[in-house]
Amino acid sequence: MKRTVSILVALVLVLSVGVGMVAQTAPKIGVCIYKFDDTFMSYVRNTIETAAKGKAILSVQDSMYDQPRQNDQVDQFLVEGMKSLAINMVDPSAVSVLIGKAAKKKVPLVLFNREPAAADMAKYAMAYYVGAKAQESGTMEGEIVADYWKKNPSADLNKDGVLQYVMLIGDPSNTDAKYRTEFSIKAVTAAGIKVQKLAEDTAMWDRPKAQEKMAAWLTAYAGKIEVVFANNDDMALGAIEALKAAGYFKDGKYMPVVGVDATPPALDALEQGYLLGTVLNDAKRQGLATFELAYSLALGKPASTTVAPLANADGKPDPKGKYVWVPYVKVTKDNYKAFK
Ligand code: GAL
Ligand code: CA
Repeated sequence: MKRTVSILVALVLVLSVGVGMVAQTAPKIGVCIYKFDDTFMSYVRNTIETAAKGKAILSVQDSMYDQPRQNDQVDQFLVEGMKSLAINMVDPSAVSVLIGKAAKKKVPLVLFNREPAAADMAKYAMAYYVGAKAQESGTMEGEIVADYWKKNPSADLNKDGVLQYVMLIGDPSNTDAKYRTEFSIKAVTAAGIKVQKLAEDTAMWDRPKAQEKMAAWLTAYAGKIEVVFANNDDMALGAIEALKAAGYFKDGKYMPVVGVDATPPALDALEQGYLLGTVLNDAKRQGLATFELAYSLALGKPASTTVAPLANADGKPDPKGKYVWVPYVKVTKDNYKAFK
């Protein structure tokens, strides 16, 4: 008994020393996600949380699509003495407020996924951005469609030589949504294909909202829609649900649908022949780059020491080392297996 007790005491001592050591070396980092209820962001969040294990103490907050709430969360982080902040903004145009708060306490600010204006980014030397060039993803989506259109003359249902499409837009205040909408169509027209937009509307990155929109369009433009563009996979999958309900994907009735993200459910849909193509939005690399940057800044290391090696793996930073760009990858039935 005595022995057990002393072993226990020794164990407790060892444990508390261990915990003490972690607490001493692991910096506290405050993380906000614009809303937890977003498929792609949940993969980014998981990566950040996994990467932080044993290295940093994270506080991860759900900003619930509410910028004032996020501002309060950042205030709280600063009160709690967080050594750096990693923020996925609700409204990137409101970044000045966050920059003001972080700058006052000289706390580094890593923004990710929802890109603020470059002019705002320039206002704070310790503001960084990790993300992907949305233009690239739009172009790739467009190329997938152009390629399909050229190989499948029967895709031109009314034989007018024009591609009639509908566009499901993400959060319209988000640069990802703007650029994907614009550059996907640019890539199609650049390939020499004439287009006609039948309808476009926001479904806020959201699957059920997109399903509803698509169902309404299928009624309004019965038999006229030839291609469905979606700014992300969740909306593409919503559209596919509506198409299935309207009798598509059987008895030779097909509709090309493209998205962005290459989420696991989207890759399944691709495998099953429902989704024509998608673009990998690399949640792992983005989450990892965000964490590694926030972590070394929290330890007081200059960003250049992290950004440069990250850039080698993940893309090219700007010369000032404030941006980490993670490349997109085109995903179709020819290469999807590599991403599953
Ligand atoms: C995009 C992604 C969308 C959504 C959005 C949130 O990059 O493709 O699915 O997660 O970010 O800002
Ligand atoms: Ca046509």
